[in-house]
Amino acid sequence: MKLVRRIAEVRDAVRAARRDGARVAFVPTMGYLHRGHLTLAREARAHADHVVMSIFVNPLQFGPNEDLARYPRDTEGDLQRATEAGVDLMFMPETQEMYASESPLRIVPKQGATRWEGAVRPGHFEGVLTVVAKLFNIVQPDVAVFGQKDIQQATLVASMVRALDFPVELLIVPTVREPDGLALSSRNVYLSPDDRARALALSRSLREVDLAWRDGERDAAVLTARGRRILSDTQGVAPDYFALVAPGTLEEVSNASAETIVIVAARVGPTRLIDNLILGRDDQVLSPTASDVSRAGVSAGTR
Ligand code: PAJ
Repeated sequence: MKLVRRIAEVRDAVRAARRDGARVAFVPTMGYLHRGHLTLAREARAHADHVVMSIFVNPLQFGPNEDLARYPRDTEGDLQRATEAGVDLMFMPETQEMYASESPLRIVPKQGATRWEGAVRPGHFEGVLTVVAKLFNIVQPDVAVFGQKDIQQATLVASMVRALDFPVELLIVPTVREPDGLALSSRNVYLSPDDRARALALSRSLREVDLAWRDGERDAAVLTARGRRILSDTQGVAPDYFALVAPGTLEEVSNASAETIVIVAARVGPTRLIDNLILGRDDQVLSPTASDVSRAGVSAGTR
């Protein structure tokens, strides 16, 4: 794997790969790579000949009270893991390289960015879309890979690609989880052992709704209440939202159907976590064993 820090070096490397006829895939990340990121890289590998990954902790998408300064970093480990996952080119720019001056322009979505994550994190998606647009222009990939874990992000990137005619195909990879159901996230390192057990309430609430839906319940209000109850029954978990929404618009639905998305965000101790599930899909392994669930229940109740 080749490591570069300058935009011009990315352009040179990608141009050379293309000259050899390569199809180019791109995986943008903020680093502290886990199995979720690496699954994206492997998926990229499966769809292209040349895989570019970026690691850039984008200041534009962090609010003033968020964790920019203490966002976890592990450059050496990341380089090793990315190499093993088949990344050919790693782009790790300094902030100065990406934003030589205060960014004079933002990509501001007209719809869909002020609710859910956007309501809690004002300006977040402007920062995300602005850096993703820059990265797309720098790398110019044929295909770009994103995770379902951040479904609102993936939805807004898809709408930007359509609206601005970026010549890139998007691939969305199902959320990669721990065996007990917890969605992998760089922020999971912030969780204390007790909070780690409580955090399972998120995936359990999603699974509860999925099971009820598979049993025939279609009323979104009933399903939402069932999911919310799991969260409110878990001490130390403060929900931000729990909702059933339509793909594409992320607007709330009153009737749940296949492809309806169940989204959840909650604070677990000091850590904010998000998760989601698409109803009726079988590629989202969310099924911890009964012993995992009861272990988490016991542990969550010990305080
Ligand atoms: P980051 O949080 O590092 O995530 C990079 C990519 O990995 C995103 O597409 C995210 O959805 C995906 N991902 C994270 N956890 C995952 C999991 N458990 N399973 C599958 N995919 C997972 O998202 C960002 O960085 C930034 O906003 C970025 C797009 C890089 C722009 O700065």
